[in-house]
Amino acid sequence: MLNMAKKAYVGLDLGHYAIKAVQLERTASGWKVTRAASVPTPEESIKDGVVVDTTAMAAAIKSLLKDAHISASSAFVAVAGASVVVRTVRIPSMPEATLRKSIKFEAGRYVPTSVADSYIEFEILGEADEENQMDVLIVAAPKEVVESRIKACEAAGLDVEAVDVEPFAAFRSLVESDEEHGWFTGTVAMVDIGATTTSMSVVRDGVFAMTRSIPNGGKTLTEALKNYFKLTEEDAESGKRQLDVSELNDDAKIKENPPLKVLQSHLDDLVREIRRSLNYYQSQQTDASNNPVTRILITGGGAKLNGVTQYLSHKLQLPAFAAGVLANPRFLHSGPLEESGLDLAVASGLAMRTHPHAA
Ligand SMILES: Nc1ncnc2c1ncn2[C@@H]1O[C@H](COP(=O)(O)OP(=O)(O)OP(=O)(O)O)[C@@H](O)[C@H]1O
Ligand SMILES: [Mg+2]
Repeated sequence: MLNMAKKAYVGLDLGHYAIKAVQLERTASGWKVTRAASVPTPEESIKDGVVVDTTAMAAAIKSLLKDAHISASSAFVAVAGASVVVRTVRIPSMPEATLRKSIKFEAGRYVPTSVADSYIEFEILGEADEENQMDVLIVAAPKEVVESRIKACEAAGLDVEAVDVEPFAAFRSLVESDEEHGWFTGTVAMVDIGATTTSMSVVRDGVFAMTRSIPNGGKTLTEALKNYFKLTEEDAESGKRQLDVSELNDDAKIKENPPLKVLQSHLDDLVREIRRSLNYYQSQQTDASNNPVTRILITGGGAKLNGVTQYLSHKLQLPAFAAGVLANPRFLHSGPLEESGLDLAVASGLAMRTHPHAA
């Protein structure tokens, strides 16, 4: 415990577009964001969740911490991506120690890659039911995803205190901490629109029912504009930020706006995949109450795209909220008011782990 007080921690989100760092202090009324900063991810330094260029990634982390005046000796990081599996499964009831022995076998049914090359964690959710079945949350992550991230942090001079899973971290900062909205009850879908992927989770009464990774994100849109209009990366990126995709809900406006039309098919792909996941979740529901998803919380840098919340809400016929950490009254900060912290959900949730009695 004494150590906890002395060590300085940072929550570090190693994204494919940007590296985000957050430091928090616990206060009586919530959290004080003492530091929040980001730097672009060095090109080609991370692929499909694996840090492939440790040196470049470590240098970027170092300069991020230095420029933002963050002094930390330890980091909380997270893993994400298509290869990271988060599933709640129903299996015959057994003591935790027994399950620990057979977890690799159980997980093997859900893990697409080799179980031997993955880290596997689990949590038994609640008591066994009358059929003597119990729900177990299984998380599996390829060792190279986990280890490459730890290595990059260590090369930047940081010990890694713990490795989390991105949607769990986001949940902590968005839902658990947000008493104002009462998002903790009922069934919510969390959609994080990143650069190369969109991660989507369904959480029911605070328990993860499913998590999926969709290979479509902000970068997909930038690339589409870049290729169609033969633009540089920078021009495509800044052009994208001028658009308002809620205009896609109005047929008359699309005809006049070729860039919007270019984005439409990709956004529709994303909508289709989110809908598929919602349908899948719904098909797994066996009890009469059904617990349908009643709202969508949208995060990630990709959620800064003008009009994307309205667009998704309209297409999916569900209320959708852009859930910026800095817009949550439980997070106090002195930064510019217009910055909502949409891309800080993961880093903030990681920083919250600094304080063991969080949330
Ligand atoms: N104002 C904006 N308008 C539209 N898109 C934006 C805006 N700001 C950032 N983006 C997009 O957000 C994406 C990056 O989001 P984010 O930082 O959450 O990704 P990441 O965490 O680095 O990636 P991943 O989660 O895939 O590893 C980029 O594709 C970028 O183009
Ligand atoms: Mg991300």
